[in-house]
Amino acid sequence: MKNINVKTSKPYEVRVGKGLLENIAREISDLKKPEKCMIISDDIVFSLYGERVKKSLTEAGYTVYEAVFPHGEESKNMETALSLLTACFEAGLTRSDFIIALGGGIVGDVCGFVSSIYLRGIDFIQIPTTLLAAIDSSVGGKTGVNTDYGKNLIGAFHQPVRVLCDTDTFNTLPYDIYTAGICEALKYGVIRDGDLFYAIGNGDIEDIVCRCVQIKADIVENDEFDHGERQLLNFGHTLGHSIEALSNFEISHGHAVGLGMLIMTRACENRGLCEKGISNEIEKALKSFEIDTDISYTAKELASFAMSDKKRKGNKITLVIPEKMGKCVLHTISTDNLEEFISL
Ligand code: GLY
Repeated sequence: MKNINVKTSKPYEVRVGKGLLENIAREISDLKKPEKCMIISDDIVFSLYGERVKKSLTEAGYTVYEAVFPHGEESKNMETALSLLTACFEAGLTRSDFIIALGGGIVGDVCGFVSSIYLRGIDFIQIPTTLLAAIDSSVGGKTGVNTDYGKNLIGAFHQPVRVLCDTDTFNTLPYDIYTAGICEALKYGVIRDGDLFYAIGNGDIEDIVCRCVQIKADIVENDEFDHGERQLLNFGHTLGHSIEALSNFEISHGHAVGLGMLIMTRACENRGLCEKGISNEIEKALKSFEIDTDISYTAKELASFAMSDKKRKGNKITLVIPEKMGKCVLHTISTDNLEEFISL
């Protein structure tokens, strides 16, 4: 097992290894006394791992409650958040108790949000069960739910008190969900670490997760509340969100980010902002994970959806521009110029 320390305003440890789920109680014994805890999960993940986590905690003397909601993006809303808050009140959770998010990014984000507002904030532990959640959403404290106006538009910064990533859980992931996580891993390679980019797919997954989490920790420590450097983590996301929406969410978030990185890198190469050949490297990597890189959306379509991006400030949008493998910079342009910028 490997540990990464995230030194945010409330520091915490990310533990990455095999077989952690069987020993959850041991992994949190230094942190939380055997009091009440609420496991929040979705139906699929709970059916796979819920009993294992419950057993470990119950045997160690914790009083365990569970709140399980239907899987999928449709559940990531205020209604679900309210039903989870109700479950916490019914269980009588107090501020010395805690919540566990057992699942992928949706579970982690909703659960984190509920934890941030229940009694004005209660401890929560992230147990990510997808690669994407392990290397991105479980670390850094961004929590939230979707609204009819867009994704993650209601939320709060609320750091977990620990992240426990059992890499054995990746064994049950469908291939496309696994490769959605791979796209985020490739993102870390392009923004910070060229060696990591080329190790993905060859290296040991535990090592890949740790390297990605370390990059995220370094960035979040410098800019916890997303005013500057943290925006580098949005590489591929502005166009990615457009691709997700244009495809009616047929293309998953992770794959859309991969395609967003590709389009942005091509545009930057054409403008002489990025070393030539990087977009080919990205395309080759995506294809090696069977991700379809043929994108039929026009620059106009991609740009119009980007207008609803919550990262937009007035008529300005900050793009993440790759300069070479392992180095990206921020570049703010007027939203009126986005279509022209990404026209190939
Ligand atoms: N997922 C991007 C961030 O945490 O800032």
